[in-house]
Amino acid sequence: MIYTKDLCKIYSQGSEQHAILKGISFTVQQGEYVAIMGVSGSGKTTLLNILGCLDTPTSGTYLFHGQDLSQFTSRQLAKFRNQHIGFIFQNYCLLPRDTVYSNVELPLLYRNLSSKERKHRVLTALEQVGMISKAKALPTQLSGGQRQKVAIARAYVGKPSILLADEPTGNLDAKSTAEVLAIFHSLHQSGTSIIMVTHDPHAAKAAGRIVTMDKDQGRFLA
Ligand SMILES: Nc1ncnc2c1ncn2[C@@H]1O[C@H](COP(=O)(O)OP(=O)(O)OP(=O)(O)O)[C@@H](O)[C@H]1O
Ligand SMILES: [Mg+2]
Repeated sequence: MIYTKDLCKIYSQGSEQHAILKGISFTVQQGEYVAIMGVSGSGKTTLLNILGCLDTPTSGTYLFHGQDLSQFTSRQLAKFRNQHIGFIFQNYCLLPRDTVYSNVELPLLYRNLSSKERKHRVLTALEQVGMISKAKALPTQLSGGQRQKVAIARAYVGKPSILLADEPTGNLDAKSTAEVLAIFHSLHQSGTSIIMVTHDPHAAKAAGRIVTMDKDQGRFLA
């Protein structure tokens, strides 16, 4: 489903160039659950942002279901992202003034769906993460673990091909971490592909495959 070949990312600061990703060649099959580990600064977020079309590589190939995303216009990429990718951030990134319901509904507003269908999907997603009783709450009225569950519902509500999660349990205690991992497990069981960046070896074990970024090489360790 995901195929990258020699992905590179170089940041220029003045006359200096910093190569962060130095040739990532990586494949993820449909239905896989992959954990990405590696020390701070090794480029995990940079890679995930490229895979999630939030950023573009300096060079290299990125195919998604055989489609070459480097050829897409920004408008095509935005549509592609909305339909195929669910992103989950360490700090939730919910809209603070919108209710839980509205936050989860947001990705569906860009789809051609009736309001009845949207409502059905939002309530189903909230049910799946155990947050239906908080539909009318504001994110500020929730704990970190509850916010992350809402963020997962938002990422999943549009039935994306893949969930990309950047340290989704990084701010959570052990109990909330276990709850979030249990939700990922059940989404994976029902066929969702997942890539999760994590510093937590215990969380990484939940995935079917672990790959490790090497800071100096800017590549995955073999
Ligand atoms: N927009 C940017 N401009 C310049 N350098 C950047 C930019 N974004 C990231 N970097 C640099 O790229 C390197 C990799 O950053 P990245 O955030 O991908 O690491 P990470 O593996 O996710 O680290 P962490 O585990 O701390 O989240 C860092 O040295 C960072 O300073
Ligand atoms: Mg990071």
